[in-house]
Amino acid sequence: MIRGTLIAFSQNKRAKKFVLSNGLARRAARRFVAGEELDDAMAAARASNESGLKATLDFLGENVTSREDAVRAREMYLGVFDRIAREKLDANVSLKLTQLGLDFGAEFCLEQMLPIVKHAESLGNFVRIDMEGSAYTQRTVEMALRLRRESAAVGTVIQSYMRRSEEDVRTLVAAGCRIRLCKGAYLEPPEIAFPEKKDVDENYVKLMRALLPSGVYHGIATHDPAMIEATKQFAEEKKIAKDKFEFQMLYGIRPDLQKSLIREGYRMRVYIPYGRDWFPYFMRRLAERPANVLFIVRNLFR
Ligand code: FDA
Repeated sequence: MIRGTLIAFSQNKRAKKFVLSNGLARRAARRFVAGEELDDAMAAARASNESGLKATLDFLGENVTSREDAVRAREMYLGVFDRIAREKLDANVSLKLTQLGLDFGAEFCLEQMLPIVKHAESLGNFVRIDMEGSAYTQRTVEMALRLRRESAAVGTVIQSYMRRSEEDVRTLVAAGCRIRLCKGAYLEPPEIAFPEKKDVDENYVKLMRALLPSGVYHGIATHDPAMIEATKQFAEEKKIAKDKFEFQMLYGIRPDLQKSLIREGYRMRVYIPYGRDWFPYFMRRLAERPANVLFIVRNLFR
């Protein structure tokens, strides 16, 4: 109920305007967002690297409403890869196709994506295409496959709450596509997504077991100790070395767990969002754990 309300809120233009202009909310968002400028994200990535964590940088933005905004996002990402190379950071990039103009058609979006992927490839780096709501799942999988035919420097995300994901994993892995496995952060109807956490978790473990032995380097993205334990056990059982996959977590969430996995010798990447368009991202983080709302409110009034 709270989850649904917060996710619905994340798409509300008036709420967005109000929250973005509110200094207190901006401060609260800093728990999950590195800052509004690329410099903030670079500093967070550097600090992460110094603690042994890899990073992925996400310039916040989704569903751009003009082609010009999509082109600006493309230019931003080209520049981000240059900065990462110049500053020798262990970091790649995560982006959303609706930020690169998917709402203006697949061909237009491909025109923005291809230079980014080629540039990443030329620098020995990598682009991760985040998975958005179900209206975009099919088009995201198709775009990932098209780009993967051009370059190995691109991968995408699979959500274990989607009933179709097993099939998508098969198709993407057959194409050699690197996958980040997560549970899924959007509000989806039960016809297409498992409504119960138990089923989402069960499917997560099933998909993890399909991904790890595939010979492709995948990301296991979760803060759930049960999912992490299942992954560790399975990898051990199948003698899959610790450098053949990585764990991934979000900036500001379970930093203790991030560090303990590093100490155990696992690879860990932290997802670092930055930029001014932090409202929908922030709302999804609150929706994942309604206790966060209380945490934020307590801190605001302390
Ligand atoms: P679950 O929600 O069951 O939480 C397990 C535990 O983790 C909680 O008990 C709590 O301790 C902690 N936790 C989880 N979320 C928290 C929060 N917001 N605040 C504080 N504690 C929290 N989704 C998507 O649809 N498309 C995508 O592309 C991505 N990309 C992505 C990248 C990375 C690196 C991560 C880690 C996650 C995503 N996600 C995503 C989000 C993902 O789908 C999911 O919503 C969250 O990771 C929460 O699910 P958990 O697996 O952590 O488990």
